[in-house]
Amino acid sequence: MNKLKQIDAAIRRYYESHSQSRDDISSELMDAILYSVDSGGKRIRPLFLLEVLEAFGIELLDAHYDVAAAVEMIHTGSLIHDDLPAMDDDDYRRGRLTSHKKFGEATAILAGDSLFLDPFGLIAEADLKPIITVQLIQFLSVSSGTFGMVGGQMLDMTSEGKSLSLTELQNIHVNKTGKLLTFPFWAAGVIAEQSASVLGRLWQVGSLVGHAFQVRDDILDVTANFEELGKTPNKDIHSEKSTYPSLLGLEQSYVVLHDALDRAQAILQELGQEIDFQPGKILDMIERLRLDGQGKS
Ligand code: IPE
Ligand code: IPE
Ligand code: MG
Ligand code: MG
Ligand code: MG
Repeated sequence: MNKLKQIDAAIRRYYESHSQSRDDISSELMDAILYSVDSGGKRIRPLFLLEVLEAFGIELLDAHYDVAAAVEMIHTGSLIHDDLPAMDDDDYRRGRLTSHKKFGEATAILAGDSLFLDPFGLIAEADLKPIITVQLIQFLSVSSGTFGMVGGQMLDMTSEGKSLSLTELQNIHVNKTGKLLTFPFWAAGVIAEQSASVLGRLWQVGSLVGHAFQVRDDILDVTANFEELGKTPNKDIHSEKSTYPSLLGLEQSYVVLHDALDRAQAILQELGQEIDFQPGKILDMIERLRLDGQGKS
């Protein structure tokens, strides 16, 4: 099985193992959870985690796929809530109707709640050393909650219609997107039992990639079409969001994107020269985040 299939299998394993011989779970809730999970997505967060583990020479086991699945579940929950009428009010996601369009708002809210809470149980049950498990749960909580994605989404919502400074916009991006992309790099370092200095550098790589990723998403919002995005283009302009293109213009946004990706790749290359770490595939994944200036990836 390839990595993408194994990530999906880990998510299903969690739900199947808990629903066995139970008929008291709402099938509509399960359908809504699996509808969003199964609609695909790039799976970039779990893939980074798995690639960093392999770069440390670690053979991938079910426990590693469980941690990878956990971060993807939180991300998928964040998309369901991000699309709700009270938030970005989107009709399409990953090429399909959004969760609330398909199942109604109440079910979509609850499917998002499930995808935020279930991952902590999934990691707790993974076959890892307890000291590692606790660190992963703690960092996933901080990256997702008030001091991460949720906090960033709050700032994003309250900033609609306002003109922000670049520092304010960067703070939103760091929180709403950056922290959940930092998790895979740092978490892989923790699982590989790396030193504080290596963890610090992996954290830096994750923040740079995370920042670049939201700048890229903002660029694609104005340059790509529905088929390429699987979601409605030009949403940010309609919602009067501050974005990198709206603040700096497109040309400068490409510069910011590529500069962050260059810096992330340089840190990984340095790390590869200092310790037993083979960053080749991670460098390739980061390379694929560049945009050619025509809005195509
Ligand atoms: C979209 O994330 C929302 C952002 C955080 C920018 P992705 O671009 O990773 O979405 P999927 O998972 O591929 O659908
Ligand atoms: C969403 O950012 C970040 C999340 C935490 C989900 P966007 O609102 O720009 O994501 P899209 O463009 O809807 O995917
Ligand atoms: Mg949003
Ligand atoms: Mg949105
Ligand atoms: Mg966007």
